[in-house]
Amino acid sequence: MHAGHNLIWGGNGSGKTSLLESIFLLGRGRSFRTRSSERLIRYGRDRLVVFGRTEGEVSQALGVQVSKTDGTMARISGTTAASLTELTQIFPVQVIDPGVHKLVEEGGHRRRRWMDWAVFHVEHQFGEAWVRYTRALKQRNAALRTQAAEVGVWDAELARLGELIAESRRAFIERLLPYWRESVVALSGLEPELHYFKGWAHDVPLAQALGASKARDEARRVTHPGPHRADVIVRLNGRPAREVLSRGQQKLVAVAMTLAQLNLLQEVTQTTPTLLLDDPAAELDESHLRRFIEEVMRLRCQLVLTSLQPESPLFGTPDRVFHVEQGRVQSV
Ligand SMILES: Nc1ncnc2c1ncn2[C@@H]1O[C@H](COP(=O)(O)OP(=O)(O)OP(=O)(O)O)[C@@H](O)[C@H]1O
Ligand SMILES: [Mg+2]
Repeated sequence: MHAGHNLIWGGNGSGKTSLLESIFLLGRGRSFRTRSSERLIRYGRDRLVVFGRTEGEVSQALGVQVSKTDGTMARISGTTAASLTELTQIFPVQVIDPGVHKLVEEGGHRRRRWMDWAVFHVEHQFGEAWVRYTRALKQRNAALRTQAAEVGVWDAELARLGELIAESRRAFIERLLPYWRESVVALSGLEPELHYFKGWAHDVPLAQALGASKARDEARRVTHPGPHRADVIVRLNGRPAREVLSRGQQKLVAVAMTLAQLNLLQEVTQTTPTLLLDDPAAELDESHLRRFIEEVMRLRCQLVLTSLQPESPLFGTPDRVFHVEQGRVQSV
């Protein structure tokens, strides 16, 4: 791929989205279309492998394998990665596809993931705290199911890490807001608000919230308060965006969230993320599509764009063009 603007073109079912999936997998260790990366494996096979190389000051070789028996594994310059989040560090990649409106429409899971990808890059203490928190949370939930007496053992660790995570996210959202306001107005003409919810009552330390929730946690056998329940709530005139925005407007708001975080990332970390744009014209009228493209072109990102046609007049002249046919990619 060219470091600038790449166009992937081909007919329906030729393999454009699959190609983007393989690029995304290299930076995230997961699929953007499905919850289970196993579904990316070719029918009838039991594993897939993707290789790539980053360019820049340090060039790194990346390899990701998804196997039906062993799950997902990554290798970075010849060494097996301890965690898939190591890929994130080396290859920052983000996607905007026809399902992007789900970021606004669906539950908090997607928005947490959206937020955490950027928090990870911007707030340095976040990555490790998150990995250790997730581990401790699993232990506490396991104790809730089998050994109620041991539940309290995890509370101090969870509370300490949980506060760190919440603070990183809060700081990130605060830095994001000016970028968000600018891009959401430019894209949609609307002025919705983003509210960060940390995952438990705002005026209570997590240690106290965990204590207060104990009876309920034991009854339901799961930990309620904590950053695993965090959300970024989008509201327009005080009402939830998913209730008041049309599908196209939800898409524009979700795109604004994503472009805002890419802008922040570039300014704060000087990284050049890769943006995958799958079928960007879907569901946008001409004037909104034009604004969308203007905003994308202002990013200094590596861009990989799919199209049904060999050119994409709205996006101008690409640096490189690839044609996909029956899953085979050819540089044009
Ligand atoms: N796991 C899989 N194994 C084999 N083939 C698959 C798998 N998943 C999808 N396919 C097929 O691969 C082909 C390419 O799909 P893909 O979604 O990449 O096409 P596309 O070029 O993005 O099409 P469109 O323009 O319609 O979005 C399709 O025929 C699809 O059914
Ligand atoms: Mg497609």
